Amino acid sequence: MNIAVVVYSESGNTRRVAERVRSRLLEKDHTVQYLELQTGTGRRELVDEPSVEGYDMICLGAPVHHLAVAKPMKLFLRSIQALHGRTVAYFVTQGQPVAALGGTQAMRTLKRMIATRAGVPVRAGIVRVNRKQSEHEVQRIVDTIEASAG
Ligand SMILES: Cc1cc2nc3c(=O)[nH]c(=O)nc-3n(C[C@H](O)[C@H](O)[C@H](O)COP(=O)(O)O)c2cc1C
Repeated sequence: MNIAVVVYSESGNTRRVAERVRSRLLEKDHTVQYLELQTGTGRRELVDEPSVEGYDMICLGAPVHHLAVAKPMKLFLRSIQALHGRTVAYFVTQGQPVAALGGTQAMRTLKRMIATRAGVPVRAGIVRVNRKQSEHEVQRIVDTIEASAG
């Protein structure tokens, strides 16, 4: 499969998870394009809006900011007109130890934004970066994305 991994990351946590996803997909002989969203000042606008036309599957990774998915990922999804029934796997990373402090809400928003653009949302998971169990959470995300890539 030809897969786009689209990531927003400021301090590297989400990027690290996305790199694990990318490595696994490459091991399984998928073609992977890694796209990192860049913002202007104050996260209010994207420097560019990468196109995801032509990919068979899309993976999205973003941090939680202020109890919600980070705004640049929302801006990116808003720039997409239609996902044409393609699978879109998504994950978030958060600093707080409890999913209710942002992760759950962020995942809900991503699911809704993917579904309203006629994508097929696949929940890959939440990484709570400061917990001991975070490595298991990362592994689950990587496994889920690998499985949905087939
Ligand atoms: C502006 C800002 C707001 C944040 N708000 C939350 C939050 O509401 N809940 C939470 O669990 N973590 C919050 N965090 C922590 C980040 O979600 C966490 O560190 C994440 O892994 C950062 O990802 P990154 O390293 O890819 O940028 C916040 C971080 C920043 C910079």
